[in-house]
Parts: sequence; C-alpha cells; structure tokens
Amino acid sequence: MAEQTAKVLFVDDEANILKAINRLFIEDDDLEIMTAAGGEEGLAILRDNPDVALIVSDQRMPGMSGVEFLAASREIVPNALRMVLTGYADIEAAVDAINRGGACRYISKPWDDEALRAAVRDGVERFRLMEENRHLHEVIRRKNEELARWNRDLEKMVQEQSIELQRKYDESRELNRRLREHFRRTVKAVAALMELRDRRMRSHAENVSRLAVAAGKRMEMKKTDLERLLVGAMLHDVGKIGIADVNLDVPPEKLDEAGRREYQAHPVIGQTAVAAIVSMHHAGLLIRHHHERHDGAGFPDGLKGDDIPLGARIIAAADFLDHRVRDFEGDSGLDLSLKNLKDLSGSRFDPEAAKHVAAVAREVYAELLPHAGFVEREVPAERLRNGMVLARDVVASSGLLLLRKGLRLDRESIETLKSHARIDPANRSVRVIVETM
Ligand SMILES: [Fe+2]
Ligand SMILES: [Fe+2]
Repeated sequence: MAEQTAKVLFVDDEANILKAINRLFIEDDDLEIMTAAGGEEGLAILRDNPDVALIVSDQRMPGMSGVEFLAASREIVPNALRMVLTGYADIEAAVDAINRGGACRYISKPWDDEALRAAVRDGVERFRLMEENRHLHEVIRRKNEELARWNRDLEKMVQEQSIELQRKYDESRELNRRLREHFRRTVKAVAALMELRDRRMRSHAENVSRLAVAAGKRMEMKKTDLERLLVGAMLHDVGKIGIADVNLDVPPEKLDEAGRREYQAHPVIGQTAVAAIVSMHHAGLLIRHHHERHDGAGFPDGLKGDDIPLGARIIAAADFLDHRVRDFEGDSGLDLSLKNLKDLSGSRFDPEAAKHVAAVAREVYAELLPHAGFVEREVPAERLRNGMVLARDVVASSGLLLLRKGLRLDRESIETLKSHARIDPANRSVRVIVETM
C-alpha cells in the first residue's frame, strides 16, 4: 500500500521562519507542509483539513498565543498531534502547552534542522500508528457488533426451531397416544366380541389382562413389555373362535379326543390370527404359550421353566385364577382360588409369576366384590362424572359387553357410554356405586 501524504501545519508570525521551514522539508515528498502566520489563520486551515496529522506552533505570537491556538485546535482536529516551539528559557510556556494545549512535546528555539525534521517525522509516524490503532479498534468494534447481531439472530433461529420441534414432538406424541388408545380399544372390542359366545366368561379377558399387567408392574417389567402383556392377555383365548359351540361349555379335561385336539389348538390358532400384524408378533408369542406348564407338561410346545416367555407365564397364572374365581361362589371364592394357585405353583405355574399374580389379585378384584357402605344409583349417561364406579356390567342389546362392572369411569369411558346411549336406548342410564354417607 503506497503511503499517503501526511499534512503538517506550521504556525509562526515570522515569515522568515515559515520560509525556512518550507525549505527544510522541500525534499520530503510524503509530507504536505502547510503554513499559517497566526492562530486565526491556522484554525481556518484546520477547518479545511480535518485530516491534518501534526501541528507545530510558535508560542510567542501577537494576538493568539501558541498555547491558546493549540487548545482551540483540539476542538477541530482532536486526533492530530501537537508540538510547540519555544525559547530556551520559556519552560513555563512549554509546560502550559503540554497541559492546556495538548502538545506532545516542545522544541526549543532556535532549533537544529535535523532534530526538527526527526521530531516532525516521529510525530507523523506516531499519528499514523494512532490512526491505524483507531481504525483497528473501529473494525473490531464493528465486527463485534456484527457478531452480537449474528448471535442474536442465531439464538432467535434456534429458539424458533426448538419451539417448532417441540410442537412437532408434542403433536406426534399425542398422535401416538391416540393410536395406542385406539389399538387398545380395538383389542378390547375383539375380546368382548369373543366373549359373546360364552356368557359365563364375560369380562374374563379384561380380568386376565388387569391381573397380568398389575403383576407385570409389580415385577418391574418395561413399558413395552407391559403393552405386549396387556394385548396378549386380552387376546389369549382369541383362538377359541375355532372351537365348536358344543365343546365350548365342556371343561377341557372332559372333552373327547377330537374335542381335546381342537381345544389344544386354540393357542396356535390365536397366534396365527394376530401374526399378520407385525407389531403384535410378541403378543402372538404370549398367546401361543399361555397353556405351557412350568414342569413342561403343557401345550402346544411343552416348553419348560424359563423357556416359556415371562408374559405367557404370568397370563397362565392370571387365566387360571380368573377361571377359579368364577367356579367358586361366595365371599371365600377368591381365597380358595388363591390357595389353588399356590398349590399348583412350582408344578403347573412359574412360582414367581404365580406369586405376583396372587399379590395383586385382591386389589384387582376389590372393585368386583360387594361394597359395604355403598349403594347403587341409576345415573343418566349425560350426568356421569369422572371417578364414578360402575355397579354392573354395561351390556348392549346385542349382548356385547361394553364396560365391566367395577370400572372407575374416566373421560373416555364416559364418552363411550354417552355415544352408546345415543345409539341404544337400553343404555340411556347406567348403574353406578355411590357412597351412602
Ligand atoms: Fe386358553
Ligand atoms: Fe382363558
């Protein structure tokens, strides 16, 4: 980069001195020497040349003194460097020029040519460095400002994107939740449809799934395993659809050979029925193995102990318990059923699974047992509230079980009841349990 010419202003009331100065710097092409015969003239030149690098002023001048002129020049060119020329004895004026006039140095009069040239060169160089410094500061300041703006923009962008991401995440979570709920309801509907064939077994699938899931939670099963357990338990007997009506009421041990073969095929038929749905592969395995026995004497594969999927072991115990509870009448039904389960634990049932199913049974069946201190009330569907407990099974005219007795109503079950009340006049109101106190 070619160096720019630096402007230097000399102010002196003696014309000879100014001439001498001009001569002194005649060879310095990189300096533009300007001269003024007094303070006023000097200030006028500065107003026209705000880029002046260095001002050298005589101290003793008629009218405006050097100090006064230099002080006034600071208003016009604050960045320029200032020097004062004074006589040897005039130390006081030199100090004044430095303090008031902002001079960076003083040069004694008369001067030595080389010393003066060196002082001027040095001053110009300092001015350039300071300009360069100011320029760099300005660049840094602007870059910092730009960076701060970028940061703000970036922060805003990130914020906007996170809000959008969060929104999409919430949306897909809600969608997922609804899908799962629909899936569960479909599974329930299929189970309820099957139970239409055998009224005695009404709500068996739901009881088994409630027992199994409660036991699974107690065993700290993972959420996905609990989902599979719920579906597997709900549909464990879906394969019974293939059993002839005449054989449906006969206890398995009293079936003839053909009937037994048919009965023993139901786990595999059940698994086949759900196999087409990829997400139900695991539930399908639980369905297949729900009649395996801990001692290996079960069907269809004669699996033994831990070879039987845990979910299937739990369903087996829950299935047995719910069958037994139906067989026994009276208040001691559950106690007797639990005793039977315990007796078969270790032979027919996995001891762990049986233990946990037994541990949750009382709570699961509690809502089905008679309620002391509560009475039934008939409540129209539109007046149902969250938390009310169904006193009886809600069954459609077609015989289809809608909701089981003991269910604590929530928003969704109330919706089901309301929409069904619109479709089926027989269900305009339902019986719920209310406290007598
Ligand atoms: Fe079964
Ligand atoms: Fe069953």
